[in-house]
Amino acid sequence: MSQQKTIIHALELGPMENFVYLIEDTETHKTAIVDPAWDVAAIIDKANSLDLKISDILLTHSHHDHINGIEELLNHAPAKIHLLKPEYEFWSHQLDKPELHHGGDRIKLGATEISMLHTPGHTPGSACYQIDNELITGDTLFVFGCGRCDLHGGNPEQMFNTLKDMKNKLDSDMVIHPGHNYSVSETSTLAEQVEGNPFMHFEDEESFTHYRMHVHDKTRNDPYGPLSKKQMRIADLLS
Ligand SMILES: [Fe+2]
Repeated sequence: MSQQKTIIHALELGPMENFVYLIEDTETHKTAIVDPAWDVAAIIDKANSLDLKISDILLTHSHHDHINGIEELLNHAPAKIHLLKPEYEFWSHQLDKPELHHGGDRIKLGATEISMLHTPGHTPGSACYQIDNELITGDTLFVFGCGRCDLHGGNPEQMFNTLKDMKNKLDSDMVIHPGHNYSVSETSTLAEQVEGNPFMHFEDEESFTHYRMHVHDKTRNDPYGPLSKKQMRIADLLS
């Protein structure tokens, strides 16, 4: 059997159950760190234990709990920072020569190709990173949940359209790697999310917005488990 080209390693770090990911290119031993935060020593230890060289930093979005390790990490490894242009403009933070992208851009990490998807809703320039049939989703899509839309820059209408696009355009066997460990499982497939993620059940923007902004946080607690369309109808959460 040929060796796997890319391996995604997850580290759960910090008080908010953030997932920091190391994307390993097995051919060149290069690695990209997704959302470096909280415990940079742990990230570096993990890279060293796997004999990986940190070459890139990929940001899903600019919230503090996803970026608070950037500077410390850069002191150890001169990595290239990637994020979407609309997120950089929204953030209005100075980074040293970041690589600003548009949705659909591809980033090369040795033999690994990473596609950037623009998935606004949690923030204006939120990104997901796709490597073959794996998707690192930041705070856009959680396992059986989705990111808040009531924070600065959040927009539930955009989130509705983002999730609809994901449902319609991505393969159902896509494996989801979320930005926080808020669920009963650390990963899932898109098919499982279409079946059991309450935010995937809405047909119209208005009812999605009402549920996201006013109902969800009062009716569900993490760790999130599946909630089917039928269960939501019984609970009168879906018409
Ligand atoms: Fe966030």
